[in-house]
Amino acid sequence: MITVRVPLGERAYDVVVGHGVVSELAALLPRSAARAAIVTQAGIPVTIDPGVPFEVFEIGHGEEHKSLATIETLSRGFARMGLTRNDVVVGVGGGMVTDVAGFAAASWHRGVPVVHVSTTLVGMVDAAIGGKTGVNIPEGKNLVGAFWQPSGVVCDLDALATLPPREVRCGRGEIAKYHFLTGDDLLAMDEVERVARCVQIKADIVGEDEREGGRRALLNYGHTLAHALEIETDHSLAHGEAVAIGLVYAAHLAHRLGRISAERVQQHYDIVGGAYELGTSLPAGVSAERLVELMGRDKKVLGDQLTFVLDGPAGVEVVPGVPRADAMAALGSLS
Ligand code: GLY
Repeated sequence: MITVRVPLGERAYDVVVGHGVVSELAALLPRSAARAAIVTQAGIPVTIDPGVPFEVFEIGHGEEHKSLATIETLSRGFARMGLTRNDVVVGVGGGMVTDVAGFAAASWHRGVPVVHVSTTLVGMVDAAIGGKTGVNIPEGKNLVGAFWQPSGVVCDLDALATLPPREVRCGRGEIAKYHFLTGDDLLAMDEVERVARCVQIKADIVGEDEREGGRRALLNYGHTLAHALEIETDHSLAHGEAVAIGLVYAAHLAHRLGRISAERVQQHYDIVGGAYELGTSLPAGVSAERLVELMGRDKKVLGDQLTFVLDGPAGVEVVPGVPRADAMAALGSLS
């Protein structure tokens, strides 16, 4: 078992990574927790014992259940249970469950403790760590939420044994991202070490910039095109698959802007397409014009210029002022 500390002063917490570490859950609960409200979904293949009396609240599967209606249903359940700040919410599932459980905990009684038991690779290396919580509204994803740090996180790799292959691919897309945020040779590590190292990289960034005033934005490497692709393909491309393409695209764009060498672009292909066997081409039928328009939407667009997270001589950094023409031309290098 590897324990990673997320360094947030009085709110610092441990993330335990390993096989069978769900047994550590009771030890991660705040000492004050008298009871637990377990938020999960039907079919999550993990049996947990929080070590205190508990009630289970199941939420639906699918993004449509990542909603304010679900938060209301959970809150009414917490009310029936009489959940107080001397209890704890435990989110057991993938990123959707931990995002919803976290936001329910953040808003119930203006904040009760939450502990996450992450059961997917994406959740372990990203969603469950760092305190971003929230739900969707028809106008967009994750538009309502709060920063609410957990008191602890369990990443039990045994949960991954039953994960569908596509879910595993998605996790690999996020893991591939970490290769370029530091110089670490993640491929030389075994699975537990690799997941723990990704958690450590994210923990260090969150510790420096909890509310994404600067450095935390680096965790969005590869995500600018990824978000546009997810929208343009109506989510037939899953998030991690889109991130894989987004990473290679970001490399082409950085090369075009003179920030990295052709060898470094090739390294992106070697990691994303080679080591992790992820697709690196644009899906058939997507419109480059529309992708550029979408990439300009969620950024602070200055006239005809976009903002990206790009690799460069000083490592990965936020780069404003990227001309639309370059963003468009780099898409041509992908297809
Ligand atoms: N998923 C990016 C972040 O937590 O900041």
